[in-house]
Amino acid sequence: MLKFKGGKDMKTTLSVIKADTGSVGGHNRPSEAMLDKAREVAAKAVKKGLLKDARVSFTGDDIAFLMSHTRGVDNSDIHKFAWDAFVETTKIAKKQGLYGAGQDLLKDAFSGNVRGMGPGSCEIEFEERAAEPFILFAADKCGPGMFNQPIFEAFADPYHNAGLLLAPDMKAGFTYNIMDVNYTEADRVITLRVPEDMYEINALLRDPNHYVIESVIENASGLKGAVVSTSRLHNIAGKYVGKDDPVAIVRTQKQFPSTGEILSPWAKAYYVLGDNRGSHHVAVMPVKQNTIISYFDGPTIVSAAGYCVHEGKFTELVDLFDQPFWDMVREKASLKTYEMRQQGFYGPAMAGMDELEYTGVVQILKGLDKKFTIRKSK
Ligand code: 13P
Ligand code: 13P
Ligand code: MG
Ligand code: MG
Repeated sequence: MLKFKGGKDMKTTLSVIKADTGSVGGHNRPSEAMLDKAREVAAKAVKKGLLKDARVSFTGDDIAFLMSHTRGVDNSDIHKFAWDAFVETTKIAKKQGLYGAGQDLLKDAFSGNVRGMGPGSCEIEFEERAAEPFILFAADKCGPGMFNQPIFEAFADPYHNAGLLLAPDMKAGFTYNIMDVNYTEADRVITLRVPEDMYEINALLRDPNHYVIESVIENASGLKGAVVSTSRLHNIAGKYVGKDDPVAIVRTQKQFPSTGEILSPWAKAYYVLGDNRGSHHVAVMPVKQNTIISYFDGPTIVSAAGYCVHEGKFTELVDLFDQPFWDMVREKASLKTYEMRQQGFYGPAMAGMDELEYTGVVQILKGLDKKFTIRKSK
């Protein structure tokens, strides 16, 4: 446990802030020069004492800063650090002539918090347990609702969280904070619990473009176990400007499902909305760290980095999807994606109208609207 000078306990905050600030190829991956810059500014912030520790990674074309510090969530110095860092990586992307330079920086000037400005973020503050294992999930080519099913199942379903049967501590279940991401004036949230509200929770989470898990709390201990970035870029920009490409932090073991239980649902290779132009349903592929984007601007990918944090310092990462089991899942995800692609844009292959509203299809339909005639009945 970290201590203040007087000996009082100090809490650790983990902040993950990510953005797409440009990429090599189309929307494929950031450049080495951008990543070098990100690592350089992160190392400086650790040296200056703003951060206890930091790690830089990329998933497809998105760069993520994993940071530990003692300033709590929503701290403007931490958010400003990340914003400024993304301004720096944007400068490099522009200089190198990369595609989509500054894509996710939707506002001109920083104003206190990256939420509502384009970059995605999730943060969690806690008193470190004696061992504090956690997973950083980072996804590309999808929205934040892609975490609904795996995070719901990993905690609440004994098919995945065998600890619900075998480790009596977790039997009191979990509380889910769920956000209505279509409500843009403020945060509209609802708090529901398993097992009591099982069906109500599912009635919301089945619509992942509208309702998104924001955080999960263990009922018995009151400890927060998971946080997910919830931003929807089209709600900020009012048009399609790229996908949200969310991140999540999940604490594991003891009061929470084990690391393997948290990974278990990802073996299904769920269909999610994302992929090319953010508008297609494909199977999410669990990938190794630093995986690029390829086929049909996809497929939608998710990476999982396991760490322990101790007195604010991170261990090396364990690349949790870099294990032979996941080769089978990657194969399956490829086949599922390819099968859906055979259907092109018909029916379930493409996004529903509520999501396509933010794209050019609206103009086509508008143009056709005046050409429709109402046939006179005889
Ligand atoms: P413990 O070492 O915490 O008992 O872990 C059990 C476990 O994680 C099995 O999945
Ligand atoms: P990104 O959101 O990852 O930039 O992808 C945008 C896109 O439209 C790919 O086809
Ligand atoms: Mg991009
Ligand atoms: Mg992206």
